[in-house]
Amino acid sequence: MSDPDHITDHYFVSEPKSKERFGLVRAALCGKNYEFLTASSVFSKTKIDLGTRLLIESMVLPKTGYALDIGCGYGAVGIVAAKLSPKLWVIMTDVNIRAVRLAKKNLELNKITNAEVRYGFFYEPVQDFRFNCVLSNPPVSAGMDTVRTIVKQAPKVMADKATFQMVIRSKIGAKALPELFCETFGDCKVLARESGFRVLMAQHIDQNAAE
Ligand SMILES: C[S@@+](CC[C@H](N)C(=O)[O-])C[C@H]1O[C@@H](n2cnc3c(N)ncnc32)[C@H](O)[C@@H]1O
Repeated sequence: MSDPDHITDHYFVSEPKSKERFGLVRAALCGKNYEFLTASSVFSKTKIDLGTRLLIESMVLPKTGYALDIGCGYGAVGIVAAKLSPKLWVIMTDVNIRAVRLAKKNLELNKITNAEVRYGFFYEPVQDFRFNCVLSNPPVSAGMDTVRTIVKQAPKVMADKATFQMVIRSKIGAKALPELFCETFGDCKVLARESGFRVLMAQHIDQNAAE
């Protein structure tokens, strides 16, 4: 039998085996205060990650419709999006069951009523939705194939003129990702750059949408 005290899991495993040690992160984001319950084997347990913060502070949100926070972790991006845009419905997804549980608790902790959390890989848990905005701080540690899949499969859940916004380390985001954005969406702009990260944004034009 393995000893849970000595197990360290990657933050992107489905069912972490490490002992669940909780933490609490307090953060001021976009001028409002938040509290996030965190835990071992979930991304950035002790503080809001710099990339997460840059995405939150630069994201462009629709006023209404649907937004997706894919790979939500304990929920910072989706929760702030829901708070800033109260008429938006935000869906937050993750493959890590511990992250899903925390994100649900964090909705309550931050009194968010216009968001929900779903478990699942890539776009499978939201395949019937058409989002106006997709937000991603991708699991680079899981490998670039995973990051590429998050980008390439996004259009199938995006409404016409929806935006896709992803934060990425600049050394990755400088070349490979903009090329992939252009292949996928025909477009890539840099929304923000700071602390070695950049936020890339593209718009999805649905060729089948009526003029
Ligand atoms: C870099 S973390 C970002 C977490 C959170 N959005 C934040 O910024 O604090 C990436 C998240 O993606 C999740 N993830 C990994 N593979 C995934 C997949 N195939 N589909 C959805 N989420 C995935 C991981 O479990 C992890 O919580």
